[in-house]
Amino acid sequence: MAVNFKLFTLLSLFTIGSLAQSLLTVLRQEGFTEFAAFLEQPEGQNVLRSNRSLIVYAPTNAGFLRSRKSATVLTREIDNRTAAIEYQMGVDSGGDILIKRHEPVCSTVGGPGAEDLMTLLDEPEFVNLPLGQNASIVQKNMPKGVLPVVHSGLGDVVKVTGLDIPYDHGLIRPVSGLFTLPRLLSITLPFLGADKTLSALRRTGLIKDLDARTGITFLAPDDRSIPSDVSENMLAEILRRHVIVGLPVFTSDLKHGDTYKTLAGTTVTVTVQCADVFIGGARILAGDAIIKNGVVHTVDKVRYQLRQKPTPMLKFLSSWMHPSFSPQHK
Ligand SMILES: *[C@@H]1O[C@H](CO)[C@@H](O)[C@H](O)[C@H]1NC(C)=O
Ligand SMILES: *[C@@H]1O[C@H](CO)[C@@H](O)[C@H](O)[C@H]1NC(C)=O
Ligand SMILES: *[C@@H]1O[C@H](CO)[C@@H](O)[C@H](O)[C@H]1NC(C)=O
Repeated sequence: MAVNFKLFTLLSLFTIGSLAQSLLTVLRQEGFTEFAAFLEQPEGQNVLRSNRSLIVYAPTNAGFLRSRKSATVLTREIDNRTAAIEYQMGVDSGGDILIKRHEPVCSTVGGPGAEDLMTLLDEPEFVNLPLGQNASIVQKNMPKGVLPVVHSGLGDVVKVTGLDIPYDHGLIRPVSGLFTLPRLLSITLPFLGADKTLSALRRTGLIKDLDARTGITFLAPDDRSIPSDVSENMLAEILRRHVIVGLPVFTSDLKHGDTYKTLAGTTVTVTVQCADVFIGGARILAGDAIIKNGVVHTVDKVRYQLRQKPTPMLKFLSSWMHPSFSPQHK
């Protein structure tokens, strides 16, 4: 990554050369006037004065205005402006993205073709990660001819809408809207259609701990797969097996055969089958909803049904059924 970063810096120096212009000047020239005005507020001065190489995710005028009004919405209106500005600024791994952009896409869920990128956002109100880590976004390549998309808080996804534009300290990358700031797990789950999972976490008393921990990955089972016929202790044990502790694991990190420790003390193994990514046997349906202390991936089933052991006949049958063929996912 360090080598790529140097390469990126060199490349930018070459491309920009003596034409280097400030961020605000280029934003205005290229028509990002709403976002330029947003950056010019006192809260934007930090970013404007920064001498680091940045990828500035700049919403188009239409995208900016839509973001201020749209549905995830309510939270955006009350968001800290400083935080909102800092979250649009990707740092340091620009070289990787620049160079890997045209890699073949295998999965749009994660694995190959996805990149996580740290931003300047480190406000304790929105970030509770291991030391030195700021909030991330995850950029994913799309099949041929379609520009990448970027995942942020509350499961929001914005589209990259055009090619990078250089300025004197980095690149401006046009996007379809502002990113949504990361929130607590308990606030995020309802946005992911995981209300039952949230109430299970409440019933078992786990949610407080999960909201407070530093650095987690939560594998949120599809609401339909939360068992209703198990004891509370059993449910708590099942849910603890859905929490990877110690660090956020973005889909861009997932490599076939990797293993991670769960809150229950068990291990989960990653399986990547081109179009599908599995963790501990559960398929990721939607990845990379960024939360204050990590990331959430929704998965298609509860890992480890503890109660019933499948009969040999059931085992034999289910070995023929690939998860994506099961009718409930149609
Ligand atoms: C960036 O600014 C810091 C202090 O604000 C300074 O120490 C550093 O040398 C600067 N880096 C470059 C490349 O100008
Ligand atoms: C917004 O962030 C700044 C730090 O950059 C902080 O001083 C301020 O209290 C925050 N405002 C709100 C309303 O949270
Ligand atoms: C995190 O954000 C802060 C505030 O903008 C910045 O000073 C710091 O360098 C960032 N950390 C990293 C690792 O980029």
